[in-house]
Amino acid sequence: MQKKNNYHFETRAIHEGETGDGWSGATLPPIFQSAAHYHESAESLSKTFAGETQDHIYMRLSNPTNRFLEQKLAALESGAGAVATGSGMAAINNACMTLLRSGDEFVASRSLFMSSYTLFTTIFKKYGIRVRLVDPLNLDDIEQAINEKTRFVYMETITNPGMEIADIKQIAQISHTKGIPLMIDNTLASPWLCRPIELGADIVLHSTTKYLSGHGGALGGVVVDAGNFDWTRERFSDFAPFVEQRGRLAFLHRLFKEIHVNFGTTPAPLHSYLTAIGLNTLGLRMERHMENAIRVADFLKDQPKVEWVNFPGFEDHGCHEMAKTQFCNKGFGAMLTFGLKDQAACFKFIDHLDMILNIANLGDCKTLIIHPYSSQYISFSPALKNKLADPQLLRFSLGVEHAEDICNDVAQALEAI
Ligand SMILES: Cc1ncc(COP(=O)(O)O)c(C=O)c1O
Repeated sequence: MQKKNNYHFETRAIHEGETGDGWSGATLPPIFQSAAHYHESAESLSKTFAGETQDHIYMRLSNPTNRFLEQKLAALESGAGAVATGSGMAAINNACMTLLRSGDEFVASRSLFMSSYTLFTTIFKKYGIRVRLVDPLNLDDIEQAINEKTRFVYMETITNPGMEIADIKQIAQISHTKGIPLMIDNTLASPWLCRPIELGADIVLHSTTKYLSGHGGALGGVVVDAGNFDWTRERFSDFAPFVEQRGRLAFLHRLFKEIHVNFGTTPAPLHSYLTAIGLNTLGLRMERHMENAIRVADFLKDQPKVEWVNFPGFEDHGCHEMAKTQFCNKGFGAMLTFGLKDQAACFKFIDHLDMILNIANLGDCKTLIIHPYSSQYISFSPALKNKLADPQLLRFSLGVEHAEDICNDVAQALEAI
C-alpha cells in the first residue's frame, strides 16, 4: 500500500510499514514463528547468504515480523534503517560494540540508566575501552572530553533519575565538528516527543520495552541509523569494507553482520508483534502520559510531606526551557522524582499504595513507582550508590489512568506516613 509521507506522526504510527505479500490481507503482521526459511533452489539460498536478496534464512539473522517492526521504527524515528534486538540493553551493547575496539574511548553522560552505567564503566573496561563521563548539560565539558581516540558521544534524551535534558542539536554539532557520531538513547522521550535524528543525532536507541510497546508485555530494543554520518573519515578507516558494501548505512550493516548475528541478539517475533501493536496507540498514550505527569507533579508540589519534586515541567526547573524548545511544547516527559523524609518514609509510602505498582520498569500504561536506592542500585558500592541515587528519592513513571485516581492514591499513602 502506498502511504503519503505527509501524515502526522500519530497517523504514521498506525499506518507506517508494509503489509507484506503472503499475509492473506491481514492488517497486523503475522507472528512468523519459524526458526528457518525454506528456499526453492540452492542458488536462491546462496544469493540470500551473499546479501543479494532481502529474503530470510534463519531467525537469528532476520524474520518477517521483526523486519516489519524495524521498518516501522526506522520510519518513526526519521532513520534510514533499523535493527531490532531482544532487549534495550542488547541494542545499546550492539551499537557500542560496533564502534569500539580495545584502546578506544567514548564520551557519555554521567547520568545514565543503571545497566548502561555498569556496561560502560565496568564491563567495557575489562576489554581496554575507556568511557569519559561528562555533565550532559555542560557543552564545554563534552567538547573537552573528546580526543583522537574518541569514537562517539552517547547521551540519553531525558536522564533517569536526574531528569536532565541535554541539548541534542548543540551536542550533535560538537560531535560532528570533531568528526564523530552522536548516539542517543531516546527511551524516555519516545519518537512522539523527540526525534533526535531530526536534531542531528546519528544513531538512536530504544528500550522498546517501555513506551513503544506500552503495556509492559514485551521486551525489546532497537538501533536506528540516520544514514547521515560519513564513515569514510580517517578515524573510521576500519569501516571501509562496510562502506564499500552499504555506503552511508555502513554502521547498521556492520552492527548486523558482526555483532547482532554473532552475539545472537535477535528478538522473539512475538515480542516484535506486541511492540508493533503497541505503536498504533503511541501518540494517544504519550499525550495522556504527559498530561498526567504535569497533573501529578503539581499535586505533589503542594503536599507538606513531600520535600521536593524534580520535574522538567516546572518553570523553575533548570531544563524547562530546553524541554520546551527540544520537545516543541508537546510535554516534559512522563517521569518525575520526589523526596520524602527518609528511606523509611519511602518504604511506608510504597507499602500503603493501593493502585500504583511498586515495579522496576517504566513507560508502562500503568503508573509505576520505585525506590531506586534500595533496588536498582542495591549492589553498587556505598560510595557510588550515594553518588547516583538518594535514599530519600522515589521515582514515578506516570501511566495513563485518570489523573485524579493517581493523586488520590498518592494522597492516602502520604497520610499513612
Ligand atoms: C533509558 C533506558 N535505556 C535502556 C534500558 C534497558 O532496556 P531493557 O530493559 O529493555 O533492556 C532501560 C531500562 O529501563 C532504560 O530505562
